[in-house]
Amino acid sequence: MARFSLLVLAALIIAAAASSSLHRAAVDAAIVEGLQVGFYDRTCPEAESTIREIVNTDKNNDPTIPAGLIRIFFHDCFVKGCDASILLDETPTPGEETEKQSPANGFTLNGLSTIDVAKSTIESLCPRTVSCADIVAFAARDAAVAAGHPGYPVAAGRRDGLGSLKSSLPGNLPGPGQGVGEITRVFVGKGMTQEDAVVLSGAHSIGGAHCFMFSDRLYNFSAGADVDPAMDPGYAGMLRTVCPAPGSPDGEDPENAPKVAFDARTEQRLDTSYFVEVLSRRGLLGSDNALAEDPGTRPLVEALARDVQLFQPGRESSCVHRKFAESMQKLGMVDVLVGEGNGEIRMDCRAVNTPGEQVPPTLPSEF
Ligand code: HEM
Repeated sequence: MARFSLLVLAALIIAAAASSSLHRAAVDAAIVEGLQVGFYDRTCPEAESTIREIVNTDKNNDPTIPAGLIRIFFHDCFVKGCDASILLDETPTPGEETEKQSPANGFTLNGLSTIDVAKSTIESLCPRTVSCADIVAFAARDAAVAAGHPGYPVAAGRRDGLGSLKSSLPGNLPGPGQGVGEITRVFVGKGMTQEDAVVLSGAHSIGGAHCFMFSDRLYNFSAGADVDPAMDPGYAGMLRTVCPAPGSPDGEDPENAPKVAFDARTEQRLDTSYFVEVLSRRGLLGSDNALAEDPGTRPLVEALARDVQLFQPGRESSCVHRKFAESMQKLGMVDVLVGEGNGEIRMDCRAVNTPGEQVPPTLPSEF
């Protein structure tokens, strides 16, 4: 199956004196050949606005949805590329477990029903046209906007993968206890950079983590310290009141584990307070803390904590920095399937098409 790795065709316009409309349209991006902004303009012009409305409606009913959608996008793209493999309920090989069934995903995935609703709505508008992989990419952007980001263009034309295996996860997703070296290795392996890892970790400005993802920092941390000495003692004390010790009767059932906000002050707002928190030794995960402690990443964490414009400009800003948008666009290019003969346009995001449902490729809008 041919895949296109990151191919930088163009660094799009960087406008020093950008107006807010230009600002939305012109974000630096590494574009993979075959993907294009406005891909569905002719074939399904309502696609992007429909997804945006569904994300906004779901967010109004459940404010945790935007965080879930951004995480689904990340976990999809880093395992077998942005091909919606994370959405499949079954593998083509019976008996094997899917990505969704991995402990790194499982019940911690939030927002899957938003993707289901978006897909079924779009299928009723434009059957067999819009891939699940593109819906995930659009929804992640719309989730960021719903959480306060000014927005960015999403190049589309991804096709959906034909399989999903739990065994594809190891080595492809960073773990909550990992240090900067390992995180960087994973990102570089996807054609991204250490800077992307730091910037995108700013997504931990919204949402939260279950206690079992970080309780090793709170109890029996090391021979000499019950609590991770890198964590602010007051913060650790508060977390210990919320999170039971692993092995205690209350700490046994992961599905009932409490979930703690990464950034309790602005839990639903995508901002830079995550970086302020990690510098104050109040990062929840070991991996968050590592970004502040490692001399290679700390300067960028400090810069992002100091200057919100560096992370994401305000809606009216003329600032040319928009690191979060750029890194999200790069994320959406990882190992995508494009063009005829690669993948398919799934009719149901949870299942690959049966042979009778195979459809011809969707052509970009200018054809
Ligand atoms: C750098 C390495 C990273 C590690 C080790 C990591 C790990 C984690 C963990 C353990 C959780 C908690 C899951 C749970 O308990 O439900 C989480 C949540 C989250 N992650 Fe990351 N992550 C990383 C990078 C990223 C990136 C790059 C993004 C976005 C592009 C991202 C977006 C999110 C979001 C939005 C949540 C909250 C989800 C929710 O509340 O539903 N993470 N992450």
